[in-house]
Amino acid sequence: MSDRKIVISPSILAADYGNLESEIKKVVDAGAEYIHIDVMDGHFVPNISIGVPVVQSIRRVTDAVFDCHLMISNPIDYVDAFIKAGADLISFHVESNSDISETIKKITSAGKKAALVVKPGTPINVVFPFLRDISMVLIMTVEPGFGGQSFISGMLPKITELRQEIERQGLQVDIQVDGGVDNETAVLCKNAGANILVAGSYIFKSPDTKEAIDILKS
Ligand code: DX5
Ligand code: ZN
Repeated sequence: MSDRKIVISPSILAADYGNLESEIKKVVDAGAEYIHIDVMDGHFVPNISIGVPVVQSIRRVTDAVFDCHLMISNPIDYVDAFIKAGADLISFHVESNSDISETIKKITSAGKKAALVVKPGTPINVVFPFLRDISMVLIMTVEPGFGGQSFISGMLPKITELRQEIERQGLQVDIQVDGGVDNETAVLCKNAGANILVAGSYIFKSPDTKEAIDILKS
């Protein structure tokens, strides 16, 4: 395995929404640098979750990086609102209806980091032409829409292929994985070249948050 720094991004989709402030403080105190915020519109995915007002409200709780994963049909229309609410990093799906280059430009020209997301059925080479313009690629390791699903190990070759392409182009692009990440699947992802791990259920359902985050990092 490489000595690449591993960053943990707990998905608050698995948190207790009645106590978001303490849930966020708990994971940040335990060593999480990012907070993964899953935004779903009930159209791009068959579920509805967090929107702009929640992002705005939790922004005062922490300085951690707000990693907003937009699972919405028209992400370009909502970029400004999420940035105003406090997003630091905006990930949007290549399968969405928005123009990829235009959406990246809208995010980066506001001084924020842009990332592309691929669903399990989407080949990874779709993101290759955009690697120079983005900070991160998120490889979904479950079908987007719900927490608590099983990791799809068939996604591991995509991670390896992407890491090779990033190195071939001489770039510093993060590879994030999202879905079914736990103590066992995290090792597979890191070995394949991922360096930012999203985990919802594994972290928030663990009796010892610090131990769970330490295990994912190590
Ligand atoms: C799924 C979301 C994930 C989800 C991960 O659509 O994008 O971020 O919260 O949850 P776990 O870690 O429970 O699979
Ligand atoms: Zn997510």
